Amino acid sequence: MAFTLPPLPFDRSALEPVLSAESFDYHHGKHHKAYIDKVNGWAGEKGLEGKSLVEVIRLAKDRGDKPLINNAGQIWNHDFFWQCLAPPASTRPSARLAALIDSAFGSHQALIDKLAEEAAGHFGSGWAWLVLAGDALKITSLHDGDTPVGLEVRPLLTIDLWEHAYYIDYRNERPRFAKEILSKVINWDFVSQNVEGGALARGDQLHAMA
Ligand code: FE2
Repeated sequence: MAFTLPPLPFDRSALEPVLSAESFDYHHGKHHKAYIDKVNGWAGEKGLEGKSLVEVIRLAKDRGDKPLINNAGQIWNHDFFWQCLAPPASTRPSARLAALIDSAFGSHQALIDKLAEEAAGHFGSGWAWLVLAGDALKITSLHDGDTPVGLEVRPLLTIDLWEHAYYIDYRNERPRFAKEILSKVINWDFVSQNVEGGALARGDQLHAMA
């Protein structure tokens, strides 16, 4: 047994024209899979058998094992990212999430603008995150394959900032990619569930290595 590639939670063409089926063929079918294959290849050498994905990430962080942090983190981040997406206008924030957004940013549009600004301004590869820190929403970004796993925050929503995430559909236009995703295909039901505490447990359950 090893980590496996979970299917996308939507049809690969369901988010067109914001994200094309071709982009998922590469992003999910090749890039996400490559991180899984890499970590599986290290199972014996790095003593990963029997560990969940979150346990592997915590172990990698404890050891300061950068290659393992990045590759295992990329598995977790991509699992999380697919769940953050949904067909246009199919979901909406819960009342609690909407109140948190208004309190932290003033309006839903202001949140989108601020998160898109973080995504556009992040230097190099990484991920922009909306997190719950204590009882307030915050925006941050992490480099390369690093994840919020092990941090004292609850991840709610993420945007992949790696060039492979947008080059097929948006070429070099990361700011436009981020704005399109955030304003059209976010799964606000998933983000709302994460406010109530589902995200880390869910990420942990997606994979079992035995
Ligand atoms: Fe990616």
